[in-house]
Amino acid sequence: MKVTVLIVCLFSTSLADDPINTRYFPKDFKFGVANAATQIEGGWNEDGKGETIWDYWAHNYPEKIADRSTPDIACDSYHKYKEDVALVKAMGLDYYRLSIAWSRILPTGHPDKINQAGVRYYKNLFAELKEAEVEPMVTLYHWDLPQPLQDEYGGWLNETVVNLFAEYAKICFELFQDDVKMWITINEPKQVCHDGYGTGGAAPGVVSNGVGEYVCAKNILLAHAKAYHVYDDEFRAKNQGRIAMVIDTTWYEPGSDSEEDQEASERIVQFMLGLYGNPIFNGNWPQVVINRVALRSEQEGFATSRLPVLTDEEIAYIKGTYDYLALNHYSTYMVNATAEPAIGDPNFGTDTNVVAWRPPDWPSGSGSWIAIVPWGLRHLLVWLKKTYGNQEIVITENGLSDNTGTLEDDDRISYYQGYLSACLDAIYEDGVNLTTYTAWSIIDDWEWGAGYTSFLGMYRVNFTDPERTRTPRKSAAWFTNMVKTRCLVDTCTE
Ligand code: BGC
Repeated sequence: MKVTVLIVCLFSTSLADDPINTRYFPKDFKFGVANAATQIEGGWNEDGKGETIWDYWAHNYPEKIADRSTPDIACDSYHKYKEDVALVKAMGLDYYRLSIAWSRILPTGHPDKINQAGVRYYKNLFAELKEAEVEPMVTLYHWDLPQPLQDEYGGWLNETVVNLFAEYAKICFELFQDDVKMWITINEPKQVCHDGYGTGGAAPGVVSNGVGEYVCAKNILLAHAKAYHVYDDEFRAKNQGRIAMVIDTTWYEPGSDSEEDQEASERIVQFMLGLYGNPIFNGNWPQVVINRVALRSEQEGFATSRLPVLTDEEIAYIKGTYDYLALNHYSTYMVNATAEPAIGDPNFGTDTNVVAWRPPDWPSGSGSWIAIVPWGLRHLLVWLKKTYGNQEIVITENGLSDNTGTLEDDDRISYYQGYLSACLDAIYEDGVNLTTYTAWSIIDDWEWGAGYTSFLGMYRVNFTDPERTRTPRKSAAWFTNMVKTRCLVDTCTE
């Protein structure tokens, strides 16, 4: 077994040095950059904005944030959005992905009072983008639940929030139907549910491992589906836009070619991504997740599975609620099957029953959780095509963090070059219908629990300067040139 793993490691490492693809990106391929309201806007309580679970978390549990910082000011994009749009324009991008803060539009989360100042902010931002000929790609929920909905209902553990989200989504479709055509309902439900209502490592910090996160998963899928149906029934004909939910996963490469390790890889990807992707693209939870959670629940003494049932009606309601497949992806692990863990407290990790690891020689950004493994993205894209059919895929996030903030960010350039090359391989060699690549991110931001200690921007933001000055890193020029030439090397072929 050890020998096999060693051989696989060497094989994998050599794949990391795959030559850069020398083909041009297809003529209609689109590029963009992404960010999210909490991470850049600031103005946390300005002009009537309500408190979110992340405002509350950072204000009340500073020890949960690496540098005890808050998103109160962040990049101050609430005031400096024109500067941000100018940077996007200068990079020659097609899309600017941003999120609307629910509590800037509806300060309490409820639909009774629309905050006109918040509406104006986004209207102005969309007008600025229009002027710059950049298309907005708009996420309705990037983790920032209005705090009252957590206090009143327990947030995503309560079905009431499904309806409240759909009402908020409807208000946004109505308000911004002349401005936005590319919609995203929810960003990365896995992080919302697993970190927020499972391990409790992120806001709102509910610890309910292996129980709450599955309840959250069901509610968040229903919320997405309801918003999709509202759009479909009432807005699609006029708006002529498209809507999807962003799903995400790390890629988990089998640690050997044994059947057990192949199954371990499939199983963990189904738990991480399939939990959300399968109901939307194929209908119902993935069978392996249904089986595993039912088995462990029974042995733990539960009367029914910890994974809530999706009724036939709910399965039909959720299935097909996509106009494209939106994917966030950052990195890769190797994975092996492991002996069945002892029965104890419910736990998402033991439900998955795998061990994930990384060969020590995989490169990464300095101090980063992201190993640079471009072939992992290619394998994931091929898996998506195989599992969900040849859907149009839009990469909505991909990028490299470091903890130095250096302007000479050569690692970030090699990350982008490698991952974009993997995209070209997937398009030209594997026939994956990938049409768009959106990088995370254009400017540094407030990185949730990492605060201002982890940097992913192609522009540095000086967070100690009241002006929050933006300074280009080396990667900004590289990316701009890549978008212009549609080529990753000096000379490309058609
Ligand atoms: C999130 C972003 C975050 C990025 C990098 C993604 O999971 O959607 O909000 O900034 O990871 O950490």
